[in-house]
Amino acid sequence: MAESWSVPGSVESIVCVNPVRNVVEDDCTEALTLRDLSVELIDTSTGDPTRFGTLPVHPAVTEAILKVVQSGKYNGYYPSNGILETREAVAQYFSRPQAPLTAQDVVMTSSCSGAMDITAMVLCNPGQSILLPMPCFGLWKALAEARGVIVKYYNLLPDKGWEADLDSLEGAIDSTTAAIVVVNPSNPCGSVFSRAHLKAIVDVAQRHHLPIIADEIYDGMAFSGHEFVCVAEVSDSVPVLSCGAVSKIFMIPGWRLGWILIHDRNGAFQQQVRPGLGRLSRKILGPCTLVQAALPDILTNVPDSYKQRNLEFLERNARKCFEKLSKVDGLTPFMPAGAMYMMVNIDLERFRFGSDVDFIKALLIEESVFVMPGKAFCAQSCFRVVLILPDDKISEACKRIAKFCSKHDTAAQSN
Ligand SMILES: Cc1ncc(COP(=O)(O)O)c(C=O)c1O
Repeated sequence: MAESWSVPGSVESIVCVNPVRNVVEDDCTEALTLRDLSVELIDTSTGDPTRFGTLPVHPAVTEAILKVVQSGKYNGYYPSNGILETREAVAQYFSRPQAPLTAQDVVMTSSCSGAMDITAMVLCNPGQSILLPMPCFGLWKALAEARGVIVKYYNLLPDKGWEADLDSLEGAIDSTTAAIVVVNPSNPCGSVFSRAHLKAIVDVAQRHHLPIIADEIYDGMAFSGHEFVCVAEVSDSVPVLSCGAVSKIFMIPGWRLGWILIHDRNGAFQQQVRPGLGRLSRKILGPCTLVQAALPDILTNVPDSYKQRNLEFLERNARKCFEKLSKVDGLTPFMPAGAMYMMVNIDLERFRFGSDVDFIKALLIEESVFVMPGKAFCAQSCFRVVLILPDDKISEACKRIAKFCSKHDTAAQSN
Protein backbone atom coordinates (compact mmCIF):
# COMPACT_ATOMS: atom_id res chain seq x y z
CA MET A 1 0.00 0.00 0.00
CA ALA A 2 1.28 3.50 -0.84
CA GLU A 3 2.28 5.60 2.17
CA SER A 4 1.28 8.91 0.71
CA TRP A 5 -0.75 10.46 -2.08
CA SER A 6 1.40 10.08 -5.16
CA VAL A 7 -0.63 8.17 -7.71
CA PRO A 8 1.54 6.28 -10.21
CA GLY A 9 0.81 6.70 -13.93
CA SER A 10 0.48 3.70 -16.23
CA VAL A 11 3.41 2.54 -18.34
CA GLU A 12 1.51 3.54 -21.48
CA SER A 13 1.08 7.09 -20.20
CA ILE A 14 4.81 7.32 -19.50
CA VAL A 15 6.15 5.90 -22.75
CA CYS A 16 3.65 7.74 -24.97
CA VAL A 17 5.89 10.59 -26.10
CA ASN A 18 5.11 12.55 -29.24
CA PRO A 19 8.49 13.88 -30.42
CA VAL A 20 6.90 17.05 -31.83
CA ARG A 21 5.38 18.02 -28.49
CA ASN A 22 8.68 17.12 -26.85
CA VAL A 23 10.49 19.65 -28.98
CA VAL A 24 7.90 22.39 -28.53
CA GLU A 25 7.29 21.89 -24.82
CA ASP A 26 10.68 20.73 -23.51
CA ASP A 27 13.35 21.92 -25.92
CA CYS A 28 11.93 25.28 -26.95
CA THR A 29 9.93 26.63 -24.04
CA GLU A 30 12.92 28.48 -22.60
CA ALA A 31 14.03 29.76 -26.00
CA LEU A 32 10.55 31.18 -26.55
CA THR A 33 10.94 33.32 -23.43
CA LEU A 34 14.56 34.33 -24.14
CA ARG A 35 13.85 35.82 -27.56
CA ASP A 36 13.36 39.56 -28.06
CA LEU A 37 9.65 39.88 -27.32
CA SER A 38 9.40 43.20 -29.15
CA VAL A 39 10.13 41.42 -32.43
CA GLU A 40 7.22 39.65 -34.12
CA LEU A 41 7.47 35.86 -33.79
CA ILE A 42 7.23 34.03 -37.11
CA ASP A 43 6.08 30.58 -36.17
CA THR A 44 6.23 28.02 -38.97
CA SER A 45 6.61 25.10 -36.62
CA THR A 46 3.18 23.50 -36.73
CA GLY A 47 1.16 22.19 -39.64
CA ASP A 48 -2.11 23.87 -38.68
CA PRO A 49 -3.45 25.25 -41.97
CA THR A 50 -5.87 27.59 -40.16
CA ARG A 51 -3.11 29.50 -38.43
CA PHE A 52 -2.53 32.42 -40.79
CA GLY A 53 -5.87 32.61 -42.61
CA THR A 54 -4.12 31.90 -45.92
CA LEU A 55 -6.08 28.68 -46.54
CA PRO A 56 -9.64 29.66 -45.58
CA VAL A 57 -12.43 27.14 -45.17
CA HIS A 58 -14.76 26.87 -48.18
CA PRO A 59 -18.25 28.34 -47.48
CA ALA A 60 -19.85 24.99 -48.42
CA VAL A 61 -18.13 23.44 -45.40
CA THR A 62 -19.64 26.00 -43.03
CA GLU A 63 -23.05 25.67 -44.67
CA ALA A 64 -22.93 21.89 -44.34
CA ILE A 65 -22.25 21.91 -40.60
CA LEU A 66 -24.83 24.64 -39.90
CA LYS A 67 -27.48 22.65 -41.75
CA VAL A 68 -26.69 19.55 -39.72
CA VAL A 69 -26.73 21.34 -36.37
CA GLN A 70 -30.02 23.03 -37.21
CA SER A 71 -31.61 19.76 -38.27
CA GLY A 72 -31.35 18.54 -34.67
CA LYS A 73 -31.05 14.99 -36.00
CA TYR A 74 -27.49 14.15 -35.09
CA ASN A 75 -27.27 14.63 -31.35
CA GLY A 76 -27.45 10.97 -30.39
CA TYR A 77 -25.36 7.83 -30.70
CA TYR A 78 -24.78 6.38 -34.14
CA PRO A 79 -22.88 3.22 -35.09
CA SER A 80 -19.34 3.35 -33.74
CA ASN A 81 -17.79 2.64 -37.13
CA GLY A 82 -19.63 5.65 -38.57
CA ILE A 83 -22.96 6.83 -39.94
CA LEU A 84 -23.88 4.67 -42.92
CA GLU A 85 -24.54 7.58 -45.31
CA THR A 86 -21.19 9.09 -44.36
CA ARG A 87 -19.35 5.83 -44.97
CA GLU A 88 -21.11 5.50 -48.32
CA ALA A 89 -20.08 9.04 -49.28
CA VAL A 90 -16.46 8.43 -48.25
CA ALA A 91 -16.37 5.14 -50.15
CA GLN A 92 -17.67 6.81 -53.28
CA TYR A 93 -15.31 9.78 -53.00
CA PHE A 94 -12.14 7.71 -52.54
CA SER A 95 -12.96 4.81 -54.88
CA ARG A 96 -10.59 4.34 -57.79
CA PRO A 97 -11.20 1.90 -60.65
CA GLN A 98 -8.24 -0.20 -59.41
CA ALA A 99 -9.25 0.21 -55.75
CA PRO A 100 -13.05 0.29 -55.42
CA LEU A 101 -14.65 0.78 -52.01
CA THR A 102 -18.08 0.29 -50.47
CA ALA A 103 -19.41 1.51 -47.13
CA GLN A 104 -18.28 -1.84 -45.66
CA ASP A 105 -14.70 -0.80 -46.36
CA VAL A 106 -14.87 2.45 -44.37
CA VAL A 107 -14.46 3.02 -40.63
CA MET A 108 -14.94 6.60 -39.44
CA THR A 109 -12.44 7.71 -36.80
CA SER A 110 -11.45 10.59 -34.61
CA SER A 111 -9.37 12.33 -37.28
CA CYS A 112 -6.32 10.79 -38.90
CA SER A 113 -4.67 10.26 -35.50
CA GLY A 114 -7.60 8.04 -34.51
CA ALA A 115 -7.23 6.09 -37.77
CA MET A 116 -3.48 5.67 -37.14
CA ASP A 117 -4.08 4.45 -33.60
CA ILE A 118 -6.68 1.88 -34.64
CA THR A 119 -4.75 0.59 -37.66
CA ALA A 120 -1.55 0.14 -35.62
CA MET A 121 -3.57 -1.51 -32.86
CA VAL A 122 -5.37 -3.93 -35.16
CA LEU A 123 -2.18 -5.13 -36.87
CA CYS A 124 0.54 -5.03 -34.20
CA ASN A 125 0.95 -6.84 -30.90
CA PRO A 126 3.29 -5.61 -28.16
CA GLY A 127 6.76 -6.96 -28.96
CA GLN A 128 6.12 -6.97 -32.70
CA SER A 129 7.61 -4.22 -34.83
CA ILE A 130 6.25 -1.61 -37.18
CA LEU A 131 8.38 -0.11 -39.96
CA LEU A 132 8.31 3.66 -40.24
CA PRO A 133 10.03 5.92 -42.75
CA MET A 134 12.80 8.16 -41.48
CA PRO A 135 12.08 11.11 -41.37
CA CYS A 136 8.53 10.41 -40.20
CA PHE A 137 5.55 12.24 -38.76
CA GLY A 138 6.29 11.79 -35.06
CA LEU A 139 2.91 10.59 -33.90
CA TRP A 140 3.45 7.19 -35.50
CA LYS A 141 6.31 6.51 -33.10
CA ALA A 142 4.35 7.75 -30.09
CA LEU A 143 1.31 5.59 -30.85
CA ALA A 144 3.32 2.46 -31.52
CA GLU A 145 5.62 2.76 -28.52
CA ALA A 146 2.73 3.52 -26.17
CA ARG A 147 1.45 0.01 -26.95
CA GLY A 148 4.79 -1.72 -26.61
CA VAL A 149 5.18 -2.05 -30.38
CA ILE A 150 8.82 -1.79 -31.45
CA VAL A 151 9.57 0.96 -33.95
CA LYS A 152 12.07 0.26 -36.73
CA TYR A 153 12.96 2.64 -39.51
CA TYR A 154 13.69 2.51 -43.19
CA ASN A 155 15.53 5.42 -44.74
CA LEU A 156 14.15 8.00 -47.13
CA LEU A 157 16.64 9.36 -49.64
CA PRO A 158 16.66 13.18 -49.77
CA ASP A 159 18.58 13.32 -53.04
CA LYS A 160 16.06 11.02 -54.71
CA GLY A 161 12.98 13.08 -53.84
CA TRP A 162 12.78 11.34 -50.45
CA GLU A 163 11.98 7.99 -52.04
CA ALA A 164 12.28 5.00 -49.74
CA ASP A 165 15.64 3.23 -49.75
CA LEU A 166 14.28 -0.16 -50.77
CA ASP A 167 17.32 -2.03 -49.47
CA SER A 168 16.94 -0.37 -46.11
CA LEU A 169 13.21 -1.22 -46.13
CA GLU A 170 13.79 -4.85 -46.95
CA GLY A 171 16.72 -5.02 -44.53
CA ALA A 172 14.56 -3.80 -41.65
CA ILE A 173 12.05 -6.62 -42.09
CA ASP A 174 12.37 -9.60 -39.76
CA SER A 175 10.16 -12.18 -38.08
CA THR A 176 8.79 -9.52 -35.69
CA THR A 177 7.55 -7.19 -38.42
CA ALA A 178 3.78 -6.73 -38.41
CA ALA A 179 3.24 -3.84 -40.85
CA ILE A 180 4.93 -1.27 -43.07
CA VAL A 181 3.86 2.37 -42.81
CA VAL A 182 4.01 4.56 -45.92
CA VAL A 183 3.38 8.30 -45.53
CA ASN A 184 2.54 9.77 -48.93
CA PRO A 185 2.47 12.71 -49.61
CA SER A 186 4.89 13.15 -46.78
CA ASN A 187 4.96 15.19 -43.65
CA PRO A 188 7.71 16.32 -43.06
CA CYS A 189 9.40 15.81 -46.45
CA GLY A 190 6.80 17.22 -48.84
CA SER A 191 7.51 14.31 -51.19
CA VAL A 192 5.00 12.58 -53.46
CA PHE A 193 5.89 9.06 -54.57
CA SER A 194 5.61 8.11 -58.22
CA ARG A 195 3.41 5.19 -59.23
CA ALA A 196 6.52 3.13 -60.05
CA HIS A 197 8.09 3.79 -56.66
CA LEU A 198 4.91 2.89 -54.80
CA LYS A 199 4.77 -0.31 -56.82
CA ALA A 200 8.35 -1.09 -55.78
CA ILE A 201 7.40 -0.66 -52.10
CA VAL A 202 4.33 -2.83 -52.59
CA ASP A 203 6.55 -5.50 -54.19
CA VAL A 204 8.71 -5.59 -51.04
CA ALA A 205 5.57 -5.98 -48.90
CA GLN A 206 4.37 -8.72 -51.25
CA ARG A 207 7.61 -10.69 -50.96
CA HIS A 208 7.25 -10.75 -47.16
CA HIS A 209 3.45 -10.99 -46.97
CA LEU A 210 3.23 -7.81 -44.92
CA PRO A 211 0.24 -5.45 -44.90
CA ILE A 212 0.75 -1.74 -45.57
CA ILE A 213 -0.66 1.10 -43.52
CA ALA A 214 -0.84 4.12 -45.84
CA ASP A 215 -0.99 7.50 -44.13
CA GLU A 216 -2.73 9.40 -46.94
CA ILE A 217 -3.97 12.42 -45.01
CA TYR A 218 -2.55 14.63 -47.81
CA ASP A 219 -4.56 12.75 -50.46
CA GLY A 220 -4.45 14.62 -53.77
CA MET A 221 -2.04 17.29 -52.52
CA ALA A 222 0.53 17.05 -55.33
CA PHE A 223 2.10 20.09 -56.98
CA SER A 224 2.23 20.66 -60.74
CA GLY A 225 4.18 17.97 -62.56
CA HIS A 226 3.49 15.42 -59.82
CA GLU A 227 0.63 12.97 -59.46
CA PHE A 228 -0.83 11.62 -56.24
CA VAL A 229 -1.35 7.87 -56.46
CA CYS A 230 -2.79 6.01 -53.50
CA VAL A 231 -0.98 2.85 -52.40
CA ALA A 232 -4.05 0.66 -52.90
CA GLU A 233 -4.19 1.63 -56.55
CA VAL A 234 -0.94 -0.21 -57.30
CA SER A 235 -1.56 -3.20 -55.06
CA ASP A 236 -3.07 -6.37 -56.53
CA SER A 237 -2.20 -8.61 -53.66
CA VAL A 238 -0.95 -6.64 -50.65
CA PRO A 239 -3.76 -5.61 -48.28
CA VAL A 240 -3.74 -1.91 -47.38
CA LEU A 241 -5.32 0.13 -44.61
CA SER A 242 -5.39 3.78 -45.67
CA CYS A 243 -5.71 6.53 -43.04
CA GLY A 244 -7.22 9.88 -43.99
CA ALA A 245 -9.06 12.90 -42.58
CA VAL A 246 -10.77 16.17 -43.39
CA SER A 247 -7.90 18.01 -41.66
CA LYS A 248 -5.69 19.00 -44.60
CA ILE A 249 -7.96 18.39 -47.57
CA PHE A 250 -10.63 20.77 -46.31
CA MET A 251 -8.42 22.72 -43.87
CA ILE A 252 -10.45 21.91 -40.77
CA PRO A 253 -8.09 19.91 -38.51
CA GLY A 254 -10.00 20.98 -35.41
CA TRP A 255 -13.11 19.12 -36.56
CA ARG A 256 -11.38 15.83 -35.80
CA LEU A 257 -12.93 13.61 -38.43
CA GLY A 258 -11.02 10.88 -40.21
CA TRP A 259 -11.41 7.43 -41.69
CA ILE A 260 -9.79 4.11 -42.40
CA LEU A 261 -10.23 2.75 -45.93
CA ILE A 262 -9.96 -1.03 -45.99
CA HIS A 263 -8.42 -2.22 -49.24
CA ASP A 264 -8.51 -5.92 -48.72
CA ARG A 265 -6.74 -8.18 -51.17
CA ASN A 266 -7.27 -11.94 -51.36
CA GLY A 267 -9.53 -11.71 -48.30
CA ALA A 268 -6.45 -11.30 -46.10
CA PHE A 269 -8.29 -8.97 -43.70
CA GLN A 270 -11.52 -10.96 -43.74
CA GLN A 271 -11.17 -13.22 -40.75
CA GLN A 272 -9.54 -11.07 -38.10
CA VAL A 273 -8.70 -7.54 -39.21
CA ARG A 274 -12.16 -6.43 -40.39
CA PRO A 275 -13.95 -7.63 -37.24
CA GLY A 276 -11.02 -6.28 -35.19
CA LEU A 277 -11.45 -2.83 -36.71
CA GLY A 278 -15.14 -2.97 -35.84
CA ARG A 279 -14.39 -3.95 -32.23
CA LEU A 280 -11.69 -1.30 -31.82
CA SER A 281 -13.96 1.41 -33.24
CA ARG A 282 -16.35 0.60 -30.39
CA LYS A 283 -13.76 1.57 -27.79
CA ILE A 284 -14.67 5.24 -28.03
CA LEU A 285 -18.08 4.92 -29.74
CA GLY A 286 -17.07 6.74 -32.90
CA PRO A 287 -16.25 10.33 -33.86
CA CYS A 288 -18.49 13.43 -33.62
CA THR A 289 -21.83 12.72 -35.33
CA LEU A 290 -22.39 16.34 -36.38
CA VAL A 291 -19.22 16.47 -38.45
CA GLN A 292 -19.86 12.99 -39.81
CA ALA A 293 -23.33 14.04 -40.95
CA ALA A 294 -21.93 17.15 -42.64
CA LEU A 295 -19.31 15.19 -44.57
CA PRO A 296 -21.44 13.96 -47.49
CA ASP A 297 -22.35 17.59 -48.36
CA ILE A 298 -18.75 18.70 -47.90
CA LEU A 299 -17.49 16.00 -50.25
CA THR A 300 -20.12 16.90 -52.84
CA ASN A 301 -20.22 20.68 -52.60
CA VAL A 302 -16.60 21.78 -52.24
CA PRO A 303 -15.40 22.22 -55.83
CA ASP A 304 -12.06 20.90 -57.06
CA SER A 305 -11.09 24.51 -57.76
CA TYR A 306 -10.90 25.07 -53.98
CA LYS A 307 -8.26 22.38 -53.61
CA GLN A 308 -6.47 23.63 -56.72
CA ARG A 309 -6.26 27.15 -55.33
CA ASN A 310 -4.81 25.88 -52.06
CA LEU A 311 -2.26 23.78 -53.91
CA GLU A 312 -1.23 26.72 -56.07
CA PHE A 313 -0.73 28.83 -52.95
CA LEU A 314 1.38 26.14 -51.27
CA GLU A 315 3.45 25.55 -54.40
CA ARG A 316 4.10 29.28 -54.85
CA ASN A 317 5.28 29.47 -51.25
CA ALA A 318 7.43 26.39 -51.71
CA ARG A 319 9.14 27.88 -54.77
CA LYS A 320 9.73 31.17 -53.04
CA CYS A 321 11.12 29.59 -49.90
CA PHE A 322 13.24 27.15 -51.91
CA GLU A 323 14.70 29.91 -54.04
CA LYS A 324 15.57 32.10 -51.06
CA LEU A 325 17.00 29.36 -48.84
CA SER A 326 19.00 27.87 -51.74
CA LYS A 327 21.08 31.03 -51.65
CA VAL A 328 22.02 30.57 -47.98
CA ASP A 329 25.44 28.97 -47.55
CA GLY A 330 25.25 25.96 -45.26
CA LEU A 331 21.57 25.23 -45.92
CA THR A 332 20.22 22.80 -48.52
CA PRO A 333 16.48 23.05 -49.05
CA PHE A 334 14.65 20.20 -50.82
CA MET A 335 11.94 21.40 -53.19
CA PRO A 336 8.72 19.65 -52.15
CA ALA A 337 6.39 17.91 -54.59
CA GLY A 338 3.27 18.26 -52.45
CA ALA A 339 1.67 18.46 -48.98
CA MET A 340 2.58 21.65 -47.10
CA TYR A 341 6.15 21.25 -45.90
CA MET A 342 9.73 21.74 -46.97
CA MET A 343 12.77 20.08 -45.44
CA VAL A 344 16.06 21.94 -45.18
CA ASN A 345 19.38 20.27 -44.46
CA ILE A 346 21.78 22.10 -42.09
CA ASP A 347 25.53 21.87 -42.36
CA LEU A 348 25.92 21.79 -38.57
CA GLU A 349 29.71 21.71 -38.61
CA ARG A 350 29.85 24.87 -40.62
CA PHE A 351 27.66 26.67 -38.08
CA ARG A 352 29.29 24.95 -35.09
CA PHE A 353 26.00 23.82 -33.60
CA GLY A 354 25.92 20.45 -31.87
CA SER A 355 22.49 19.50 -33.17
CA ASP A 356 19.53 20.74 -35.16
CA VAL A 357 17.76 21.49 -31.88
CA ASP A 358 20.63 23.82 -30.84
CA PHE A 359 20.42 25.49 -34.26
CA ILE A 360 16.68 26.11 -34.12
CA LYS A 361 16.79 27.27 -30.49
CA ALA A 362 19.43 29.87 -31.35
CA LEU A 363 17.42 30.90 -34.42
CA LEU A 364 14.36 31.32 -32.23
CA ILE A 365 16.20 33.37 -29.61
CA GLU A 366 18.14 35.57 -32.03
CA GLU A 367 15.68 35.99 -34.91
CA SER A 368 12.26 35.03 -33.53
CA VAL A 369 11.72 32.46 -36.27
CA PHE A 370 10.40 29.10 -35.13
CA VAL A 371 10.93 26.07 -37.38
CA MET A 372 10.68 22.42 -36.38
CA PRO A 373 14.00 20.57 -35.99
CA GLY A 374 14.63 17.14 -37.53
CA LYS A 375 14.55 15.61 -34.04
CA ALA A 376 10.77 15.97 -34.07
CA PHE A 377 10.71 13.60 -37.05
CA CYS A 378 13.37 11.19 -35.80
CA ALA A 379 15.83 12.79 -38.24
CA GLN A 380 19.02 14.78 -37.75
CA SER A 381 20.71 17.93 -39.06
CA CYS A 382 17.64 19.42 -40.68
CA PHE A 383 14.55 21.50 -40.07
CA ARG A 384 11.07 21.66 -41.53
CA VAL A 385 9.29 24.78 -42.73
CA VAL A 386 5.47 24.83 -42.95
CA LEU A 387 4.45 26.55 -46.18
CA ILE A 388 1.29 28.27 -45.01
CA LEU A 389 2.71 31.70 -44.20
CA PRO A 390 1.43 34.76 -46.05
CA ASP A 391 3.75 36.19 -48.68
CA ASP A 392 5.31 38.94 -46.57
CA LYS A 393 5.96 36.61 -43.65
CA ILE A 394 7.64 33.96 -45.79
CA SER A 395 9.99 36.60 -47.20
CA GLU A 396 10.69 37.97 -43.74
CA ALA A 397 11.29 34.48 -42.29
CA CYS A 398 13.76 33.63 -45.08
CA LYS A 399 15.51 36.97 -44.64
CA ARG A 400 15.96 36.38 -40.91
CA ILE A 401 17.15 32.79 -41.47
CA ALA A 402 19.72 34.06 -44.01
CA LYS A 403 20.93 36.73 -41.56
CA PHE A 404 21.24 34.17 -38.76
CA CYS A 405 23.19 31.75 -40.96
CA SER A 406 25.52 34.42 -42.21
CA LYS A 407 26.24 35.49 -38.61
CA HIS A 408 27.09 31.92 -37.56
CA ASP A 409 28.87 30.88 -40.77
CA THR A 410 32.35 29.84 -39.66
CA ALA A 411 33.45 29.21 -43.27
CA ALA A 412 32.76 32.84 -44.17
CA GLN A 413 34.48 34.07 -40.99
CA SER A 414 37.69 32.16 -41.69
CA ASN A 415 38.00 33.63 -45.24
C1 LIG B 1 1.28 12.66 -41.98
C2 LIG B 1 0.24 13.00 -40.96
N1 LIG B 1 -0.53 12.03 -40.47
C3 LIG B 1 -1.45 12.29 -39.53
C4 LIG B 1 -1.66 13.56 -39.03
C5 LIG B 1 -2.67 13.78 -37.95
O1 LIG B 1 -3.82 14.31 -38.48
P1 LIG B 1 -5.12 14.67 -37.65
O2 LIG B 1 -4.94 16.05 -37.16
O3 LIG B 1 -6.22 14.55 -38.66
O4 LIG B 1 -5.24 13.69 -36.55
C6 LIG B 1 -0.89 14.61 -39.54
C7 LIG B 1 -1.06 15.97 -39.02
O5 LIG B 1 -0.34 16.90 -39.31
C8 LIG B 1 0.08 14.32 -40.53
O6 LIG B 1 0.87 15.29 -41.04
